[in-house]
Amino acid sequence: MPTDLKTYMQQMAALVEEELDRLLPTESEAPGIIHRAMRYSTCGGGKRLRAMLAMEAAGLRGESRLRALPVAASLEMIHAYSLIHDDLPCMDDDDYRRGQPSNHKLFGEGLAVLAGDGLLAEAFVVLSRLPELIGLSPELTVRVIACVAEAASTKGLVGGQVADLQAEGAPVDDHAAETLRFIHERKTGALFKASLLAGAMVGGLDSEDLAAVSRYAMHFGLAFQIMDDLLDVIGDEERLGKAVGSDQRRQKLTYPRLYGVERSKTMALEAVEAAKESVKRFGAAADRLAQLAAFVVEREY
Ligand code: IPE
Ligand code: IPE
Ligand code: MG
Ligand code: MG
Ligand code: MG
Repeated sequence: MPTDLKTYMQQMAALVEEELDRLLPTESEAPGIIHRAMRYSTCGGGKRLRAMLAMEAAGLRGESRLRALPVAASLEMIHAYSLIHDDLPCMDDDDYRRGQPSNHKLFGEGLAVLAGDGLLAEAFVVLSRLPELIGLSPELTVRVIACVAEAASTKGLVGGQVADLQAEGAPVDDHAAETLRFIHERKTGALFKASLLAGAMVGGLDSEDLAAVSRYAMHFGLAFQIMDDLLDVIGDEERLGKAVGSDQRRQKLTYPRLYGVERSKTMALEAVEAAKESVKRFGAAADRLAQLAAFVVEREY
């Protein structure tokens, strides 16, 4: 990773951290335990990719990236909710997340379910306050909310998670490639796309720009999830901080299972190139987006 990208990612993560701390309810608010559980899985960890994508998209046509901070934080809340639920025994049954015990391991399943619910709702509380927080127009605020809501819905993340569960243990048949793409575009792709589009709306991008950002998002999401699948196979537990091999254990439908490790790597690299190509029109303003796409397949965590 180029040193300046590393520094950039650390600085952005620190900003997101502060914003989350500012926006999330504190333990002093009753019932304190749920706010502790929500903060446990949202603060102090994660790469903050969705947040960075939102902020970078906001800056593509000259707007300050910082203006998208509340949007970035709300996307990390939704992401954190999805991870809490994803790790539950009734889903992927993972005991570790980001090198720490999963939410349900510390707080119990009931609170983990509710912490996820709380985070999802809180994200929309924040988005609904965009006119007050950053002076966004009511019209654009509604568009941002609609975009994020659709990504979180059964058309997006929830639909993808359902398909992911249903494909578990099923034999690889002629439709597997199509099913795999359906899963990946939704369970992870949709929230990445919403992050970029919501950020782009804050940045005042026009419809042609939004279409370019949307193409980048599709390729970025694919590269990201192929790599996530690969890391489950080739990563080591200590570095990843989660149960490596969880996909194999549960017989998930993944890229390495369908295409093998080498072909999957090639597909991820092709997606990165396509992502970079999609944002060429923005010139140097898209340098970070290009670097982040490259990072996604070079990462070890
Ligand atoms: C992991 O996402 C889970 C998926 C959506 C596949 P990230 O790798 O972006 O998780 P953090 O936030 O950096 O821990
Ligand atoms: C998680 O996908 C997707 C969502 C949480 C929406 P995975 O199940 O592949 O994520 P990891 O591998 O547990 O991080
Ligand atoms: Mg899962
Ligand atoms: Mg999982
Ligand atoms: Mg995974």
